[in-house]
Formats: sequence, C-alpha cells, structure tokens
Amino acid sequence: MIPLVERYRDRLPIAPGDPFVSLYEGSTPLIHADALSAQLGVDLWLKLESMNPTGSFKDRGMTVAVSRALAQGATGVVCASTGNTAASAAAYAARAGLSAEILLPQGAVALGKLAQARAVGARLVEVRGSFDQALRAAQALGDSGRYVLVNSLNPDRIEGQKTAAFEIAEALGRVPDVLALPYGGGGNTRAYARGFGEWDAGMPRFLAGAAARRGETLASAIRIVDPAHRAEAEAAVRYSGGAVVALTDDEIVVAWRLLAEQEGVFCEPASAAGLAAVQKVGAEGTVVVVVTGHGLKDPDAVDRTAAPVIEVDVDAIADVFA
Ligand code: F0G
Repeated sequence: MIPLVERYRDRLPIAPGDPFVSLYEGSTPLIHADALSAQLGVDLWLKLESMNPTGSFKDRGMTVAVSRALAQGATGVVCASTGNTAASAAAYAARAGLSAEILLPQGAVALGKLAQARAVGARLVEVRGSFDQALRAAQALGDSGRYVLVNSLNPDRIEGQKTAAFEIAEALGRVPDVLALPYGGGGNTRAYARGFGEWDAGMPRFLAGAAARRGETLASAIRIVDPAHRAEAEAAVRYSGGAVVALTDDEIVVAWRLLAEQEGVFCEPASAAGLAAVQKVGAEGTVVVVVTGHGLKDPDAVDRTAAPVIEVDVDAIADVFA
C-alpha cells in the first residue's frame, strides 16, 4: 500500500520531493456486488471509500489540502462540516502538527464522526444554525488569513478526490458506463468528473443522488440546502447524459438495507444514495456505486431500520432457539 500522493503524484499539485501528510489513504477496494447485480440486471461494483483511514472519501482530498497548507506555512486549518470533513481534517491536522478549527451544525452530526474529531484534539464549535451558515463562517475565517479553509471550496480537495476515478478506471481496465454517488455540496461529483476527464478514456453517465428534502433528510452527511458546487456539479452530470436524482428518506433506507443485507457492506445512510439513485432511475452495463462513508460513523441510524436486539434471561435462552 502506498500513500495517495505517491501513487498519483504526477497528476497532483505536489512536486516530486515535496513532503506530504498521509495516513495511507486511497487504494480502496472495488468489489463486485454479485447479489445486487443479479437483482438489478447490471454489472454492479462498489467502490468502498468507507475503507479510507478515517472512514470516508474525504481523506483523499485532505492529504493534498493539509500537505499544501503545511507547505504554505499555515498553523491551523478550518472547516464547516456535517461530520466527515471534520473527522478527516482533524486527523490530518493532528498528524501535520496543525490546529483544527471545526464548525458543526448543532445536533446534526453523527456520533462516530464527533468522536473521531474530538479524539484527535480538534476544537469543535457547534453552531446553532445550519451547515450552510457554518460554511459561510468557516469561509470568513479562511479569508481572514489565520487558517487555511479545507472544505471542498479549497481546490486541493477536489484534486485529491479526483484520484478515485483513476483507481476505478485502472481496476476495471475501462471507464464504467455509469457512476452513481451521493450529492451533497457537489464537490465529489465535480472531482469524479475532473478525474475521468483527465483519464481521457470517456465519461460515465453520472447518477447523483440528492435528498429530496435537503434540509431535513435522515442522511445527515448530505443535509445541505445550498450546494457550494451546484453549477459545476450539475453541469457535469448533464454533460455526461446522467441525472440528479431526488431521493426520499425511505428510498435511501431501502438502498442502505440492501447494501448491508445483500452484500454485507455497512455504510452510513447518505452513502447509500448512489445505489438508491440506480434503483430509482435504472442503469445499464457496468455500474460503479461509490460508498462514501462507513456505517460505524452513525450507529444511531441502525436503530431506525434494523431488527432489535433480543433480550433474554439466562434460563430462557433455549426458548429463543426453540
Ligand atoms: N457522502 C458522505 C458520507 C459525505 O460525508 C458527504 C459530504 C457526501 C457524501 C457528499 O459529498 O458534498 O462532495 O457532494 N460530507 C460533507 C462533510 C458535507 O462535511 O463531511 P459532496
């Protein structure tokens, strides 16, 4: 296993010999989904971005953004986050010896993500407001020059995240017919479009799964009302011949259960939006579904869908299995 920056340095804004900050991100598994392929009548693959060091795709962008912040002489980074950017920024900042200043929408961040960011010593500030409001505040702090903004408005994030497209094309030996992923702020959709564009072997049709009720979805990672990259992300989707697919929470939960129960892949709810989009509008040929974040990040979400734990007295255990 090699760090992302080493694997793709010739395609990233980090020069040969420049130091970089890595937790050995990228090179994530692309696994075939046998059961779901049969069920949906396609050749379905899952790109397990949940297997990155902090459990989400954000690490690809963060290795580049934090490395560059360090090279520029920064002493701290700042971000607003629904949780995964926070966990990733906090971890890479810790490794780089930088402070991490994190603005979170109050009551809207999953338990595991909060624990991750706190454990590595980030300063967490819960804003009594939405993600969108927290992002504007983080941008202002970045503009002040005291901290480097490591949200995906920082172009280094998109640069790092585009490498997932390279890995998929390399692993399949071709560009897939369809790429399906969740759409929150749209940075990752932009990153894949850039990556496949640079790979220059054709563009998949993008299916970008967004919450129909953006401000209220149970998929807290994509609870974003005003996507920062809307224009570019939706232009890329249109250009590819794909679609932005608006999903209800029920549709997201159905896909989430399928991933777990049919394939053994436990992701957080937002990460099932790609599969939900495929189920909703259909697809043909070779389809890659990007699983963006790990299920352990949001253990509370399991209560809403999975079977309850069976509680029993010692002398009644046999009854359960009768
Ligand atoms: N999936 C997960 C697990 C996410 O955490 C996010 C975004 C997305 C998908 C959507 O990606 O915004 O590039 O379209 N999470 C951000 C955060 C907002 O703060 O962690 P996008």
